[in-house]
Amino acid sequence: MICKQQIVKILIPAIVAAGLCACRTAGTSAEKTAEPTMETTAESGINYMALVNKLNKLPDNWEEQLETVHMTNSMGDDVEVETKAYDAYLKLKEDLEKEGVYVDLDNARRSVETQQKIMDDFTKEYGADYAAKIVAEPGYSEHHTGLTLDLYLIIDGKDVYLNEDMMQYPEIWSKIHAKLADYGFILRYLDGKEHITGYAYEPWHIRYIDDVDIAKKIMESGQTLEEYLGTAKSTELTVDLGTSYLFTEEELTEAMIQVKCKFAAFDGCELSRLSYAGDVCNTAENLEWISSMDENNEYVKVAEFLTDFHVSEDSKTTFNPGQDYKDYQWWLGYTKDGSWQLVSWGY
Ligand code: DAL
Ligand code: ZN
Repeated sequence: MICKQQIVKILIPAIVAAGLCACRTAGTSAEKTAEPTMETTAESGINYMALVNKLNKLPDNWEEQLETVHMTNSMGDDVEVETKAYDAYLKLKEDLEKEGVYVDLDNARRSVETQQKIMDDFTKEYGADYAAKIVAEPGYSEHHTGLTLDLYLIIDGKDVYLNEDMMQYPEIWSKIHAKLADYGFILRYLDGKEHITGYAYEPWHIRYIDDVDIAKKIMESGQTLEEYLGTAKSTELTVDLGTSYLFTEEELTEAMIQVKCKFAAFDGCELSRLSYAGDVCNTAENLEWISSMDENNEYVKVAEFLTDFHVSEDSKTTFNPGQDYKDYQWWLGYTKDGSWQLVSWGY
């Protein structure tokens, strides 16, 4: 059973990352060692390479074959992890500690019910588009596998678990990422590959695949699991922010990530260009048009983005198989409080 307390704890980091106040205090020591509360040496009968993403749900009968352990992290939270993944994590953690890097597990396996609660809360708070770039649909979250671990940092004895805080330590994440493959882990949501993974960069979200050689191949090549498994092509993506007097580079990049995360759900489509269409699109007429399509938000500016992509022969979309699409449009509204909503896309 999922208790309310667990759900709240999972939610807090990302909510704070988006600008709300912290409701949980940090501050326990790195020396505190997490211990599994239930030891098991049994191996799961699962496919450790299983792909779970926006297009692929958790395989059937997964739960029946999954062996997990529970541990308590430095903040006192219960975390459930697949058995082998947990063993590998402990070795990774030990190795990192030799370099003065301390980590712990924020969460690992999540039930569909927990994921639903997270999705509902995020959608209510920030809208469906924002939620879609950081939260998976229930049934489609890699966290259901038990093989996915969200790490947090312990720096100078303090727990650093809020997304925006953790993002301040790229050099620590680099040290962590450099060791992942040695223990059969890969980094799942890569910076710049949002159009393939479907999610914004998450340096803390690691995935156990149980094969050190394959993990090394993936990490050294800078590929996503989708590219390694061949469900997505490693096509070159040209990104053009153009020149804008209305939006900062950061704001445009944020909008583009939203577009890319949505694009990832276009099965069998390979994105080759993503461009900002220019400030000229921010007309009163366009603002009125997008506002008329969305009663829930008050927009103060509007931006258009253009994409080129190729549709593979076996694409399950309604696009024409084998066709190249040019200047496919994406319209986003910019609200008073500085958030983007994807309002319309198409020709
Ligand atoms: N944050 C990842 C995408 C999830 O919700 O599974
Ligand atoms: Zn995660």
